[in-house]
Amino acid sequence: MKLDKISTKTAFDYGYLLKRIFPYIKPLLFRIFLTFFLAVPLGLLDGATAFVLKPYIDVVVNGNTITVFDLTLTRDILAKIIPPGIVVFAGVQGVLRYLNTYLSDWISLTIANSVKMDLFKKLVFLDSKFYDENSSGLVISRFLSDPDSASRSIINSIKTLITSLTSALGLIFVLLYNSWELALVGVIVLVCAFLPMTFLRKKIKEVSNLSTVVGGNITTSFNETYHGNKIISGYNLQNDIYEKVKRLIRETFSLQMSLTKRTGWLSPIMYIIASIGIAFVMLVGNNLIMSGRLTTGSFASFITSLLLLYKPVKSIGQDLTNMQSIFVALSRVFELFDFNSRIENKGEKIIKSAPDKIEFKNVCFSYDGEKEILHNISFDVKKGQTIALVGNSGGGKSTIVNLLPRFYDVNKGAILFDGVNIKDIELNSLRNSISEVFQDNFLFTGTIKDNILMGNKNASDEDIKKALKMAHLDEFTDELEHGADTFIGENGASLSGGQKQRVAIARAMIKDAPITVLDEATSALDNKSEKIVQKALDNLMKDRTVFVIAHRLSTIFNADKIVVIDEGRVVEIGTHEELINIPEGKYRNLYNMQFKNQEDLQKI
Ligand SMILES: Nc1ncnc2c1ncn2[C@@H]1O[C@H](COP(=O)(O)OP(=O)(O)O)[C@@H](O)[C@H]1O
Ligand SMILES: [Mg+2]
Repeated sequence: MKLDKISTKTAFDYGYLLKRIFPYIKPLLFRIFLTFFLAVPLGLLDGATAFVLKPYIDVVVNGNTITVFDLTLTRDILAKIIPPGIVVFAGVQGVLRYLNTYLSDWISLTIANSVKMDLFKKLVFLDSKFYDENSSGLVISRFLSDPDSASRSIINSIKTLITSLTSALGLIFVLLYNSWELALVGVIVLVCAFLPMTFLRKKIKEVSNLSTVVGGNITTSFNETYHGNKIISGYNLQNDIYEKVKRLIRETFSLQMSLTKRTGWLSPIMYIIASIGIAFVMLVGNNLIMSGRLTTGSFASFITSLLLLYKPVKSIGQDLTNMQSIFVALSRVFELFDFNSRIENKGEKIIKSAPDKIEFKNVCFSYDGEKEILHNISFDVKKGQTIALVGNSGGGKSTIVNLLPRFYDVNKGAILFDGVNIKDIELNSLRNSISEVFQDNFLFTGTIKDNILMGNKNASDEDIKKALKMAHLDEFTDELEHGADTFIGENGASLSGGQKQRVAIARAMIKDAPITVLDEATSALDNKSEKIVQKALDNLMKDRTVFVIAHRLSTIFNADKIVVIDEGRVVEIGTHEELINIPEGKYRNLYNMQFKNQEDLQKI
């Protein structure tokens, strides 16, 4: 389920894409029709201006009179009516245009918002594997820009398409009204000018796709710059990152320029063809005037319409090409929509209290479906016991505990709570029954209290106080001016490692889940903060079933059972006393290598 960098599998499947976007458009249909309805007179008003030129020149300039419905219009009357009339027309057009813009922006933003909300809901429920597989930049660009560009331009394009079409029709009417012979010449020329557009659609699709890919890569690099700023400074990687981003920016540049190169010639070519048309019209028009078949007013009105016609026709062509990018954006959005969490929530069992027995039964697991990481893992834990997973790094300990809350699902075998497969337990209930503390815990932007409340939104101030105390945070918060209401920055930037860890422990504490998972929760800390964090952890472990991955000897000593993991296999199970006595045993080996000097240190 990896996002394709250039995915446009459905970009040409217009029917399918319109069907997908329709539910978002449906509640707004009335407003949309209103927008389109407003676009019609907007377009027609162009023609009106050209239309009045004929009476203006024939009557006002040349002094003829015309009769409309038994009404004889003289030079005096028209000279007074036409100029203010044009201003009134423009005024009406202005008001309509404002209404139209307001409505269409409102509609497109509304559509984009609902798409984004739904998309985010989808994203936030996706499984860990999705986040392993897809870079943040790619996902961010699909989330932020694609819904915007799709919904914004879908309404705008249709709106301008309608204005342009009616404007073109109105102007063509004026052309025909003045002289059908000339109109024929004009229309043929316009059609010729219009043809090159159709060749361009595919090219545009390719380039606009590529440029969003590169855009996504830039976002990823930017995110890395943010999160990795200390590593970047420490390893003096600034120039490397700079070069990388520079390359990406240049790549976007050349992609965008290649789009311009492919499409930029369109407008000049159309101009040239149009001017040839006008030249032709002038030649033919000259003959018609000479032979008395055309008045000067008609000719002026005709030429004006023809000139005015260029704009809407060009815009129709542009809209049609824009439409293609809309469909590209839509197809990208809906591709993301079709991602579903691979962690199915079909179970109905609710966990009310700690299971008497948690069992891993022949569990096999692979992250990528190819390389198996865990092979036939089997062991069990009784209620209230502490089980320690030990083994060399990379052996699969973290992977094992990540299977418990179903961040990933096992490929073979099963994890059983009192004999019930965890896949048959309601997912929220399962996850509510487990609290985790990792080596590096993510904290959210906000206050200490906000972060602790993530463990249980309904916790009272009393509960929080207790959790602070149990996590040995109270002394620290008491010293702060705002106490637990102190802001801690992005991912706890203003806290020390040990303090962050204790906030995470308080969060787990207030969740009060019967099962606790501790994955190297103290290994990133120095001795002094480790001691206090360990005290906090001891509180968290009390009366719970605990899975602990530890590098600390005392934790392992106190465990009811030790499971030794080596290269994805369980190699030994037992208590410290049992395992230490296995000659040439893995645990004994590990103990001698890792833990013995800790013991020596403690003796000092
Ligand atoms: N998200 C992941 N995607 C792919 N492979 C992973 C992922 N996390 C860990 N691994 C691989 O799984 C193996 C076991 O890793 P892990 O469970 O973290 O070991 P341990 O916690 O014992 O150090 C390693 O080979 C590691 O490269
Ligand atoms: Mg690990």
